[in-house]
Order: sequence, then structure tokens, then C-alpha cells
Amino acid sequence: RFTRHYKFDIKLQNVTRLCQTKSIVTVNGQFPGPRIIAREGDRLVIKVVNHVQNNITIHWHGVRQMRTGWADGPAYITQCPIQTGQSYVYNFTVTGQRGTLFWHAHISWLRATVYGSLVILPKQHEHYPFPQPSKEVPIIFGEWWKADTETIINQAQLTGLAPNLSDAYTINGQPGPLYNCSAKDAFKLKVKPGKTYLLRLINAALNSELFFSIANHTLTVVEADAVYVKPFKTNIVLITPGQTTNVLLRTKSKAPNATFLIAARPYATGPATFDNTTATGLLEYEKTSITNTKNKNRKLPLLKPVLPKFNDTNFATNFNKKIRSLANAKFPANVPKTVDRRFFFTIGLGLSPCSQNQTCQGSNNTRLAASINNVSFVQPNIALLQAHFFKQSNGVYTTDFPANPPFKFNYTGNPPSNIMIKSGTKVMVLPFNATVELVLQDTSIIGAESHPLHLHGFNFFVVGQGIGNFNPNKDPSKFNLVDPAERNTVGVPSGGWTAIRFLADNPGVWFMHCHLEVHTSWGLKMAWVVQDGKRRNQKLQPPPSDLPKC
Ligand code: C2O
Repeated sequence: RFTRHYKFDIKLQNVTRLCQTKSIVTVNGQFPGPRIIAREGDRLVIKVVNHVQNNITIHWHGVRQMRTGWADGPAYITQCPIQTGQSYVYNFTVTGQRGTLFWHAHISWLRATVYGSLVILPKQHEHYPFPQPSKEVPIIFGEWWKADTETIINQAQLTGLAPNLSDAYTINGQPGPLYNCSAKDAFKLKVKPGKTYLLRLINAALNSELFFSIANHTLTVVEADAVYVKPFKTNIVLITPGQTTNVLLRTKSKAPNATFLIAARPYATGPATFDNTTATGLLEYEKTSITNTKNKNRKLPLLKPVLPKFNDTNFATNFNKKIRSLANAKFPANVPKTVDRRFFFTIGLGLSPCSQNQTCQGSNNTRLAASINNVSFVQPNIALLQAHFFKQSNGVYTTDFPANPPFKFNYTGNPPSNIMIKSGTKVMVLPFNATVELVLQDTSIIGAESHPLHLHGFNFFVVGQGIGNFNPNKDPSKFNLVDPAERNTVGVPSGGWTAIRFLADNPGVWFMHCHLEVHTSWGLKMAWVVQDGKRRNQKLQPPPSDLPKC
């Protein structure tokens, strides 16, 4: 068991993309940020020093943070932000997890540029349950705006209108040859023939689910959200913001006379306009054969992958169905078999009355809002976890988060009329070790849309999924309690529902939100408060002494 130290200096850096240079917030001047590597069981000690004018926090997305919620990172949920000139040490162990995760800023829209990979290797002398790759390559998808992203979201919040769409998608920070001024810096994956590569795919984009493919190559999915899955082959991967997927790429036995395009493009179901451009990189075989050397100066043909239509929900549904836990003796799927607490949450967009600090430009003085059970979450002024730990919840949050939606209607077919969304800082309290079943239903109020829901502090099991209205009398009998996917982010299907189960064995305050950042900004978020257990090792640890103050 090791302790690994990292230092994150939050600073500005000039970066040029799409023919324009702008100053962005980065970690150590790098974009994407530095890779963090640990082994299962290691302790990570990461000192974050803030040298910029913005407040910042960092979230270790998917790390369970057993009893160490103080290191989780979402601003005003588990900590006050790190202010200019201040620092905070994130100190946590990665136990019972191995695989690909990532880290990102968790305040406002700063994660647009502040993100990087977090790789947890298996314990020493432990092997992957799949062929040992000859090389491992993180591939992080992102989104790029020519304008300043903080300005974009701040303006959108003032007007109550939708923020501008991004100008490009990126692969390892690069838009690739299909965008202006981007060809020469494109991400290149250089491979040798007849080898196996482990691609660690991470979707760090703010607002877009993505299809991913490599021309003329089949991928084998072996892991999702740092949990091994039953391997399956596919030409296309669907990955939502907040999800990570490990795939094996087996290269062709002989170096072909071609270059292959690597591409990522949105899966979009919402009613809003979206950016249908494509981020690309290149898969290149090292020139090994004589013919290749001879033809060095000849341009190799470029082969392109075929991606599904932007709104191909059939593909999405079938792809998600294939993700199953290994569920073997070594890596069991500990699905809760009984349920202590049952919840039904509707999620989706709607309209809300304009608040005082806004000049809303929506019809009838409304603004766009998003909600869970018609509650749009309002960020408190001090961190919920602090208020909970020091028993000072008064005036910070209330514990009346609704277990069910306040109204009933048909969630599909003709969209129901707009409901005026209410605002509040409400949490749901869970006793320690409660088994929870949560059905998430897309409301389709403004239009059906897929929502990648992310839960902090836990992995959950995706026991059921369906299109249309969830039927509590029929659907539960079809739940998969044997080998469901175990993950931290799940796409709630457009016009459909997802059922998850988890064990509330991690005391603290845990954020749950749509990982489409614009929906988080509109309030599609809430928090769970998990109470301490009786035993000493079932209690939230006390806060570190350098915990930032608000
Ligand atoms: Cu990666 Cu709260 O999120």
C-alpha cells in the first residue's frame, strides 16, 4: 500500500484551438490535465493550489470516497470552494476499485478545461480478467468553446435562456482534421500490427453523449465505470458525459496500406439544437513492411468509420443492454436483493418563475429550469456536508425531498403541459446501510431527452431500463438481479426510465445530478444524506484542518 503525492497548480494558460487563442484555467498549465495513476488500495494525496481569480474545487469522479466525503469535491455540497491564493489537500484511498475514472473541476463550468484521467491499476501481481494489453492509452473526449465558458454560463443564468453550443468536440484536447486549423495537432494513435491495446475512453464533454468508432476495427468492451464487464465486441461505443469505458483494440496482423479515422460525434435526443460536428483522430500503423517504406511519400488512403444517426435511440438501448457485470466468484455483483427504501424520481426540463437576480427573457417572465420530482436544486451558501456534520442544517437545507413526483401524468406520447418548477435545497435522508431502489423517469415535459445521471459516493446496479412509462406492477418482475451493470453514471433513456439499486454504506452527503452540465446548471441535481452507522468504522471521518471556508 503506497501513498502517492501530486500537486495541482491551478493556473491560466494560453491555448490555441480552431484558429484562435484564449486563456483557459488549467492544472499545471496542461490541457487536458495531468494523468493520475494509483494502484487499488493506494492513498492519494493531492495538493491543489489556486492561482486564478475563479474559485475552484476538484472532484475525483467515480472514486467511492468511503467515509471521506470531505475529499469528494462538488462545490457547496462537500466543501466550500478553494479561493484565490488558497490551497486544499485532497486525501483519500482507492479501495475496492480498479479501472479508468477521471477527475474534473466541480464548480460552475470550469470542468470545460479542468479535467484529466485517473487510472487505478489492479493490485501488484493481480491481472486483468482479459488479455494483457501491450499498451494502454487514455482517450478523453471534451468540448471546446471559442468564447470563455464562464461568461457563457453566467450570461445564460442571467437571461434564463440556453447557453451557446460548443464550437467543437475534442479527442485528448484536439478537435482533429475536420475542423479549421486543427489537422496538424490531431490526436494520433500509433500502433504495431498484431497487438492488443487497451483504450481507456473517458467522456469529459460538458453537454454531449457521444458515439465513438475506429474505421475498420472492432473493439471489445471489457470495463465500464471502473467495473469489469462481460466482454463483448462492437464497432461503436456509446459513452455519456461522466462515463468511462475500457475497450480492447486488436490491431490487424499485417500493417495495412491505409490510415484509419477515429471519430466521436453526438448522440442527441433533446428538443434543443445541437452541434453535429465530429471530433477525429488518426490510427496509424508503424511502417514495418518494405512496401510501406517504399511508398513513404505516397499518401495512404484514409478510411472512415460509420457512426449511427445522431438520434439513434435503438442503438443506445441495445448497446446499454449488452453491459453486464462479470458477476463471477472473483468479481461478484453484490446486487441488493431486498429493498428498504423505494423512490420514484421524475427528471427533466421545464420552466420556472424568474428569480430576483435575473432578467429573464423566456415567455411570461420564465426561465429554463430542470428538476427532480419538480424540485430545482438551489445551491446553498455553505457546504451541505459541513452543515450535516456540525448539525447546523437550519437555514442551509431541508430534509423534505419528495420520494415521489407531486403530480401524475403520462410521460410519453403527447408531452404534458409545462409544470412550474419549484426551487429548494432539499435532501433525502437515508439510514446507514439502507438498500435503496430508485426509478428515474424522463418526464419529456419540454421534449423527451436522455439524461446521464451520476451518483457520487456509490456504485449502483442498473437493474432495469425501459421506454415509456415505468409500470410498478409489471416492470420489477423483469429486473436483472444477477449480472446488472454496476456503475456511477447511467443514461436514463429518452422518454423512458431506468431502475437502479444501491447499498447506502457510505456515510456523508452525496450529490446526484445529470452529467450534462447545462442541466446541472438548471437544477437537475439533489443530494442524499447517509447517516452514520453505530460502529466506529461506520462513521464519516472528521473534516481535515485545511477544509476551505466559505
Ligand atoms: Cu463528474 Cu458531480 O460529477
